[in-house]
Amino acid sequence: MNGAKKIVLGVTGGVAAYKAPELARLLKKGGLDVQVVMTRAAERFVAPLALRCVTGNAVLTADWDAQTDPYDHLFVTRGASAALIAPATANFLAKMAHGAADDLLTTTILAARCPVYVAPSMNPAMLNNPAVRENIRILEKRGINVVPPEVGEMADGEFGEGRLPSIEYLASLMMKAAGVAGDLAGRRVLVTAGPTVEPIDAARFISNRSSGKMGAALAGAARDRGADVTLIHGPVTARLPEGVRRVSVRTAVEMLDAVTSRFSDCDMLIMAAAVADFRPARPSAGKIKKGDQSPTLALEPNPDILEAVAKIKGGRVVVGFAAETENLIKNGRDKMAAKNMDVICVNDVGGEDSGFDSDYNEVTILCRGEEPLPLRRADKPSVANRILDVAVKFLSAPVA
Ligand SMILES: Cc1cc2nc3c(=O)[nH]c(=O)nc-3n(C[C@H](O)[C@H](O)[C@H](O)COP(=O)(O)O)c2cc1C
Repeated sequence: MNGAKKIVLGVTGGVAAYKAPELARLLKKGGLDVQVVMTRAAERFVAPLALRCVTGNAVLTADWDAQTDPYDHLFVTRGASAALIAPATANFLAKMAHGAADDLLTTTILAARCPVYVAPSMNPAMLNNPAVRENIRILEKRGINVVPPEVGEMADGEFGEGRLPSIEYLASLMMKAAGVAGDLAGRRVLVTAGPTVEPIDAARFISNRSSGKMGAALAGAARDRGADVTLIHGPVTARLPEGVRRVSVRTAVEMLDAVTSRFSDCDMLIMAAAVADFRPARPSAGKIKKGDQSPTLALEPNPDILEAVAKIKGGRVVVGFAAETENLIKNGRDKMAAKNMDVICVNDVGGEDSGFDSDYNEVTILCRGEEPLPLRRADKPSVANRILDVAVKFLSAPVA
């Protein structure tokens, strides 16, 4: 073997098995040697050949006769840093909790000496069945690392708890288990997210439709790649990632202070917040009364955060966003140059279900000295990782 740390990836027959090849690819890309073991039901959802192609290793299936070694069930986990079962079906959890060993994967896990992680994934009704909950508790009590399923929309359209966590997150868990550092290990990353709100009076404000989902995804992805992350956010509706330092602000001026006071300590700033360009010039301390006359709201410009940090940038990497409706590339390049950015993600806000408040985004990444990189519409965590793939190239070598 090539000396790479080994991870065993168990795949069972849940609908999320279709994500297994992408997960295996991420693990391989992270420098790990990935050995896949599948159940017979998993093969109904994803072909072993797909997993073989991305891992470069023969895939072990429920077919005993196809095994390269009759003792694969004992040897597969030897020398492995960890085993991850993703997705783990209700059936698999039940078998594991009760010590069943009726196929290669259950037998392998019963014989494993390495740390074992399971990522349950199923419909919320199945997950909340007392039998399944009890099996999960049994596994946790025995020291199995149960990766909590996420809340979200299921493949069958139902909303609830039971989704497989992002493959980036699962990959990061395995990287940590294997002691492999991500490409942002030891780096301090500052991310801004969400809208700012600018008071008109004691009850009213001006804001925008930003949900904070893109910034939250970037913060989570940077964390998963090993960074020490500080997330400066306005009032967001997005779920914010765990394991990052959070700083809550309301106005653009508060966000400016929060960013500039931390900027000199960071290696990378990612400005994903939708900072209000203007604010009411004379906000009223009390509530403006409804009267006969329509009040006129005078606005004044807010400070430009990217402009402020451009002056003190030094060797830090600065990533910005530009929401455009036309001339995306030209306007993006102009903004990148004017504000001394390294990378800018131009966001076509004219598209449907993409950008503001959506779970998806479609951006073109522009960076110094490279051709534009248009990304297809994808979920925000995936877009976040593609942006980081580009941004990390601008980091200077870490100081020894
Ligand atoms: C279309 C389809 C989707 C399924 N999705 C899931 C799932 O997401 N989670 C789950 O626990 N079981 C799911 N099942 C049920 C499992 O496939 C079934 O329990 C199977 O016996 C699991 O075998 P395994 O644990 O050996 O892989 C699904 C079944 C079908 C037909």
